[in-house]
Amino acid sequence: MCGIVGVTGTKNSLSILINGLKRLEYRGYDSAGVYVNDNNGHDYLVKRPGRISNLEAALTDDVHGVSGIGHTRWATHGEPSEANAHPQYSSDKRFYLVHNGVIENYAQLKTNYLSGVHFASQTDTEVIVQLVDKFVVDGHLTTKEALLKVLKLISPDSSYAFVLMDKEQPDTLFVAKNKSPLLVGVADGYNMVGSDATSMLKQTNEFLELDDHELVIVKPDSIEIEDFDGNQKHRDTFTVDMDPNAADKGAYPYYMLKEIDEQPAVMRKIVQKYFDENGQPKIDEDLLKSMAAADHLYIVGAGTSYHAGLIGARIFEKLVGVPTSVHISSEFAYEQPLLSKKPFFIFLSQSGETADSREVLVHVNENKWPSLTITNVDKSTLSREATFTELLYAGPEIAVASTKAYTAQIAVEAVLAKALGEYMDKPAAREFDVKHQLGLVANGMQSLTDSKGIMKDLSDKYLSKTRNAFYIGRGIDWSVSLEAALKLKEISYVQAEGFASGELKHGTIALIEKGTPVIGIITQDRTAGLTRSNLEETQARGSNALTIVSRHLAQDGDNILLPDVDELLTPLLSVVPAQLLAYYTSLGKGLDVDKPRNLAKSVTVQ
Ligand code: F6R
Repeated sequence: MCGIVGVTGTKNSLSILINGLKRLEYRGYDSAGVYVNDNNGHDYLVKRPGRISNLEAALTDDVHGVSGIGHTRWATHGEPSEANAHPQYSSDKRFYLVHNGVIENYAQLKTNYLSGVHFASQTDTEVIVQLVDKFVVDGHLTTKEALLKVLKLISPDSSYAFVLMDKEQPDTLFVAKNKSPLLVGVADGYNMVGSDATSMLKQTNEFLELDDHELVIVKPDSIEIEDFDGNQKHRDTFTVDMDPNAADKGAYPYYMLKEIDEQPAVMRKIVQKYFDENGQPKIDEDLLKSMAAADHLYIVGAGTSYHAGLIGARIFEKLVGVPTSVHISSEFAYEQPLLSKKPFFIFLSQSGETADSREVLVHVNENKWPSLTITNVDKSTLSREATFTELLYAGPEIAVASTKAYTAQIAVEAVLAKALGEYMDKPAAREFDVKHQLGLVANGMQSLTDSKGIMKDLSDKYLSKTRNAFYIGRGIDWSVSLEAALKLKEISYVQAEGFASGELKHGTIALIEKGTPVIGIITQDRTAGLTRSNLEETQARGSNALTIVSRHLAQDGDNILLPDVDELLTPLLSVVPAQLLAYYTSLGKGLDVDKPRNLAKSVTVQ
C-alpha cells in the first residue's frame, strides 16, 4: 500500500504533491510527508503522523520548490510516527526516498553493509536510502549507479515503487519499481510520477507505464527508461480518459454514501457498454473462444472481490454449465489445489493492483494459462498482465469499503456468463435476459437507496449498540451475508459474521444471546423456508431478528423488502441495505466512514 508522488520542473510542485497525495490517501493514511527543493539551494522536509490534512496544516509559507516527492503511508515496518513517515533520508540529508512496498531482506542489508550507521526510523525504506548514500559517498558511484547497485541487492521477493531525490541533482527523480504500481505522467513542460493515474489527472492524462526491474530517470524535459543491464527502452505514452472531477465527493458527507447511491447508474452504464443495439452482449470473441475451450473456470480475488466471485461462480455454473471454483488470492498463491487440464482464470479486482492477486497471475502467466482481469482501473497492473481485460465502468471508488465495485463485478460476471453461455449454445443462457434484468435491478437499487431513513432507523434499532452481529442465509444469500458482514465490521467495528444459516445449529448458535442481532437474507424460493426456520431458532434464544427479503417471500416482523428480480441477480439488491446499515452504524458512532482504522484501499503488499 502507501501512495507516492513526485514532480519535477514546475514552481507549483508543492501544491501538485499535496493534491496528488489527497487522491492517494485511499492507499494509506497513517502518516504523510513531502520533500521539496527549489533548485536554488533551499530544500524542505515536512512529515506528520495522521492524515494529509495534518501535513497540510504543518506547511508554512516558506516551504516551496520546483521539484519534490510525497508519500502517504500504511505502516508495514515501524509504527505510524513522524520518524517512520516518508520521505526517509540519509544521515547526511543528501538523499530522500519515498517507497511503496516491502523490502524483505532489509535486515540482512543493514547488517551486511550499514553497521555503525545511525538510523532515525524503524523502516525498511531507510536502509535503502542509507545504502544509496554509502555507495555514493564511500564507493564514489554516481547516484544512478548507486541506486542500480542497491536494486540488484534487493531480494526478488521484495516489492517496491521508489522515487529518490539527490539534493545535488534536485531536478532529477530516480525511479524504479518491482511489483508495486507506478506510472510516469507527462505534463506540459514538466514531468510527474505517481502510484496511479488519478493522482496526476489534474495535471495530465498522458502517461508512461513502467515495467518491473526498470530504472527511470525523470527530468523536467526528459524521461529515460532502461533495464538493470543498462539497455535503453523506448515506450509510447497512453492516455487515460477519465474526468478528474469524477473522484470528487460533491455534496455528499462521505464517498461511501455517494458510491452506494451511484449503483443504479453503474448498472445502466454496464448495460450501455456491454450490449449492442439489438440487445446482444458485446464481448470480445477471442475471449469467449478462450473461455469456451476451458474445462474449469477459476475465479480469484480478495475481500469484497472474492465475495463477488462467489456469486459469479453460481451464475457461470447455471448459465454456462462449466465447473467454476472461487479462491482467495492470498491462499491460492501459495497452496494451489489440483488444477484441471484446461483451466481459465478470472481475476476480480477493483483496483487491479492487489499484490496477492498479482502473485497468482504471475504464476498463471508462467504456466501460459489464459486469464481475464475484471477491474475498475484501466491499464492497472492486473489488467495489463492478464490475457484479456473487461472493465467495470463504475467510476472511481474512493471509500475504502467497496460498494459499487462489488455490484459492478457481479453485473459484469452475469453479462459475461450470458455471452459465454450463448456462444456455447446453452439454453439457460439464451433464456436469461440479463439486459432486461439489469434494468430491473437498477430500478430496484434506486428504490432501496431512496429509503435511507428506514435504513438509518433500523441501524439505530439493531446495530448501534451491539458489539457483535450475524448475517445468515443459504446458497447465494449466504455469499451475500459474507459481504454484508464484512461491510459492517470494517467500517463500524461491530464483530460481524456471515454464516450459512443451516450451520448455526452445528455450533455457532451457542453465541446467540438476548439481544444479539441476526439479519436473515432471504431471496431464494427453494431455501426461504429453511432460512426462516433457522432465524426463528435464533429468536427462540433471544436474538433480535431482521430480514432482508424479496417482497414475495416476506412475512410479519421487521423486514427490508427487496423488489423482485431474477433469483440469480438478487445479490445486487440484497447487498444494498447491508451497505446502508453499515454506513449508518459507522456514522452513528462518529467514525470516519471512508477511512476506517488499519485499512487501505489498494493492498499492494502480500
Ligand atoms: C472491502 C474491500 C476489500 C477489497 C480487497 C481487494 O470493502 O474493499 O476487501 O475488496 O482488498 O481489493 P481489489 O478488489 O482492489 O483487488
